[in-house]
Amino acid sequence: MDDLIHGLVTSVNGPIVRARGLTGVSMLDIAEVGPDRLIGEVIKLDGDVAIIQVYEDNTGLKPGDEVLSSGRPLSVLLGPGLISNIYDGIQRPLVDIANILGSYIKKGVKVSPLDTTRKWLFRPTVKPGDRIDPGAIIGEIEETGSVLHRVMAPPDVSGTLDWIAAEGSYTIEEDIYRVKGSADYSGKLSSYWPVRKKRPFKNRKKSGIPLITGQRIIDTFFPIAKGGTAVIPGGFGTGKTMTQHALAKWCDADIIIHIGCGERGNEMTDVLNEFPKLIDPRSGRPLMERTVMIANTSNMPVPAREVSIYTGITIAEYYRDMGYHVAVMADSTSRWAEALRELSSRLGDMPAEEGFPSYLATRLAEFYERAGYIETLAGMEGSITTIGAVSPPGGDFSEPVTQHTTRFVRCFWALDKVLADARHYPSISWIDSYTEYIDEVRSWWNDLDSSWYGTRNDAMHILLEDNRLQQIVKLVGPDALPVAEQLILFSAEMIKNGFLQQNSFDPKDMHCSPDKQLMLLKLFVDFYHEAKRLIASGIDLKRITSLSAASEIIRLKSEIDNSEIDRINTHEQEMKSQLSALGAEAAKKTVAAAGGTDGTP
Ligand SMILES: Nc1ncnc2c1ncn2[C@@H]1O[C@H](COP(=O)(O)OP(=O)(O)O)[C@@H](O)[C@H]1O
Ligand SMILES: [Mg+2]
Repeated sequence: MDDLIHGLVTSVNGPIVRARGLTGVSMLDIAEVGPDRLIGEVIKLDGDVAIIQVYEDNTGLKPGDEVLSSGRPLSVLLGPGLISNIYDGIQRPLVDIANILGSYIKKGVKVSPLDTTRKWLFRPTVKPGDRIDPGAIIGEIEETGSVLHRVMAPPDVSGTLDWIAAEGSYTIEEDIYRVKGSADYSGKLSSYWPVRKKRPFKNRKKSGIPLITGQRIIDTFFPIAKGGTAVIPGGFGTGKTMTQHALAKWCDADIIIHIGCGERGNEMTDVLNEFPKLIDPRSGRPLMERTVMIANTSNMPVPAREVSIYTGITIAEYYRDMGYHVAVMADSTSRWAEALRELSSRLGDMPAEEGFPSYLATRLAEFYERAGYIETLAGMEGSITTIGAVSPPGGDFSEPVTQHTTRFVRCFWALDKVLADARHYPSISWIDSYTEYIDEVRSWWNDLDSSWYGTRNDAMHILLEDNRLQQIVKLVGPDALPVAEQLILFSAEMIKNGFLQQNSFDPKDMHCSPDKQLMLLKLFVDFYHEAKRLIASGIDLKRITSLSAASEIIRLKSEIDNSEIDRINTHEQEMKSQLSALGAEAAKKTVAAAGGTDGTP
């Protein structure tokens, strides 16, 4: 074990430690600091002084204490057993909730991120003599009921397969295959990857497939493509965490990586209590079977929060490389940026806007750049969709983290405090939000139903008109408006209540299938168009708005389950017959006015 490099601590400034004598260490190498051998990372080299960011509580550390380095970069251990796990920022398993809430992992404790004793049933898919290219699939393991784990050759290994273990059960530490190439390589079920280095792929592709989230305002109005990027900015209590959780639960990605970054410990406990009970509506399997959690709550060391998003995205890339669609949720990137700010000020970096380091923008760009829809080294398709929450102080979107993030993401789901205060959830604003993925996902929706684009635009038009009219209503009240405009207000209200509002606690409403979304929206848009014709032919608006069908269709979202959407057709028939009864009356009136004989005196 004495190929370790030895050095001595010269100064300690919070989690930032300077050490001398570490000749031969490189940037981003792991360092073990002090008698407890706390995990740290070399983040700067200044002559013969190494500056180390320590990821554990280093109270009591002092100059003269020993520092060791193996000369290897801080890495994530990748292999079967990642799924369903809960890790801290440097991938130490948090075995129970007590760890998260209080006691935390004991200082310097070294636990393997993956169970080293568990045996996995491995099925080889290649045979000796086969050519092994970088990233090639070597074999398969059923990791969970929902995830088939594809064992891959590392991206830097190629040659001819010399030997492979027979089908059978193996631990992650046993040798499984040997490749003869320019350098011989012995492979196991697990491998390490440097946490800050992105994993290679063949090329980027256009996605064209939406990430279906089950949240109506997102899927219908502000959709995101698989491989896309989105930000959820919102002040305190506007629903960032609820939205992220709803996405983690119901979106149709194969794998979910949830990074709880600097949020309160009890929120993470809620997740840990709730998630294991949830069932994936598509597979019928527990949702935990496709989920990895990274928890770095506000009570854990700040540097571990900084690194946690890289740990999360590296695990995401590993599953992407197996040909999966992965969704990464980071809540909240503001807390992450604050960690960056704290560390950079201890390093004496020159502060830029609001004390954030000048490299804040580059770091954010690097994080969101790791999203994308790609062709893997093994020639499969995979993707990472990245969704970050941002909590601007005071809800002011002009602050640096929100501003820089919007430069690098293509979906902006703005949470609106006014909506949240009015208990309109999700409080995603249909005025301030935007998406750049409409054209990319349009043909997918078109295949489902060719009326999607038109219906969506009609509904959006009603909502935007309503927004404009609301300014006037504030001055003169609704009754002063022409009837056609009053109808806009009424129809927008129907869409807001019957479509945009979605209750995360209601079992029938929490997750809405694409078909149900479109069927509901069509009801409101059809209602509007028909009502518009009726008022033009002289029917009193009040009679239209007081139809029982008008109030019934608003309730359908929480009365009809995704599995019984045919029932929406019955309501559609009822709505149409009520409207056409009024239409018939109007026709009679016209005939009577023209001197016809309809029996009325
Ligand atoms: N979609 C939703 N459905 C029902 N309630 C919601 C929804 N979104 C937010 N809320 C309510 O708002 C509260 C605060 O939301 P939260 O996500 O914790 O805010 P943030 O993370 O932005 O501080 C929640 O506890 C919940 O009561
Ligand atoms: Mg929150």
